[in-house]
Amino acid sequence: MNVRLNAPEDRHAPQRILMAPGPSNVHPRVIQALIEPLVGHKDPSFLAAMEDTAALLREVFQTRNRATFALPATGGSGMEAALVNVLEPGDTVVVANAGFFAQRMVDICTRLTGVNVVVVPGAWGEPVARDAVLSAIRQHRPRALAIVHGETSTGVEQPLEGLAAECHAQDALLVVDAVATLGGVRLPVDEWEIDVCFSGSQKCLSAPPGMAPITISDRAMRAIEARHTPVASWYFDLRLHARLWDTDHSYHHTSPVLSVYALREALRLVVEEGVDARIARHCLHAMALGQGIEALGLQQFACQGFRMPSVVTALTPAGVSARAVRKLLLDSLNVEISVGLGERSDGMWRIGVMGHSAQQANVMLVLTGLEQALRCVGLTPGGSGARAAAEVYEHTRL
Ligand SMILES: Cc1ncc(COP(=O)(O)O)c(C=O)c1O
Repeated sequence: MNVRLNAPEDRHAPQRILMAPGPSNVHPRVIQALIEPLVGHKDPSFLAAMEDTAALLREVFQTRNRATFALPATGGSGMEAALVNVLEPGDTVVVANAGFFAQRMVDICTRLTGVNVVVVPGAWGEPVARDAVLSAIRQHRPRALAIVHGETSTGVEQPLEGLAAECHAQDALLVVDAVATLGGVRLPVDEWEIDVCFSGSQKCLSAPPGMAPITISDRAMRAIEARHTPVASWYFDLRLHARLWDTDHSYHHTSPVLSVYALREALRLVVEEGVDARIARHCLHAMALGQGIEALGLQQFACQGFRMPSVVTALTPAGVSARAVRKLLLDSLNVEISVGLGERSDGMWRIGVMGHSAQQANVMLVLTGLEQALRCVGLTPGGSGARAAAEVYEHTRL
């Protein structure tokens, strides 16, 4: 095999403007945290960093849950952990499914032996109908309702308010995927009485990929403690992770020390900015991008009234390849956007408005790139995307 060692062009990754729905760009302070000296995972300074990180996560999740920490793997580990801990043989789970990531929840639940999975389907591009979800909870009295807050595959925000009341009335737990929303979209975990809520480090929090923040209510912890069978996954047994993050820091795994430092710094940036101010910033840039996209003559995919402030989705015009345009933006402007997922992979763009990447200059660059791409394939844009976005910025103050 021909392995090149230390070729100068291979030493550094390119500097990109990350406008896909994750990862987002990281602040220089987060990079700095990644090059702190490596200490042992039982070093007192690192144990203090874990405690800071947990406290910061409580601020961002807006919760008092003691069991609030970060799993040492990507957002999907939060999903897997939440479901394998809450469900056991004989249980029923209701999954609200209107997208790629909700389907992943269905797939995970279907693999769990003896778990009865009830799917409440919805159309891609729309939230799952609230009445259908509520009546499934009443009818099936499940162990849990699993639902995606921000469906990254469609750009839809699923309203969550009021779901917990029905869940709790039927003795069910509310499990929420906030991978694409935590830190960029309103998500008051305690106010909405969410029982298990997980996220990913690389999206609105703007830390590198590889950590999955998670918070677990006392009600959910009691339910996990009362299981009749052990959690099928030893590694993702949440009680063991809770003990690692609690004051006695019982060994479970070797913590990814530098990733925790980076997450802590990213969370400090969120708290310094203010959670509400950060959400307002996401809303502003998503609105500017959405208006710009429509001014270009493109159609947003997510239905009006339910568009996420952290992911904007647009349909590609007939005859245009979403992948070719993504390549053009990457090659010519150094900007990364994403194409669709699943069936819609080449018919749609998904553009992240996340964390440190959610900036006016980046929104303008994406719109300029899309306009250029449309012209390249011989289409005349309906109007100026950049001008429409500029109007939003002129008229909206943060
Ligand atoms: C809503 C949602 N859930 C889960 C995931 C999985 O996260 P990860 O890719 O970090 O494992 C993603 C990733 O994009 C997501 O957007």
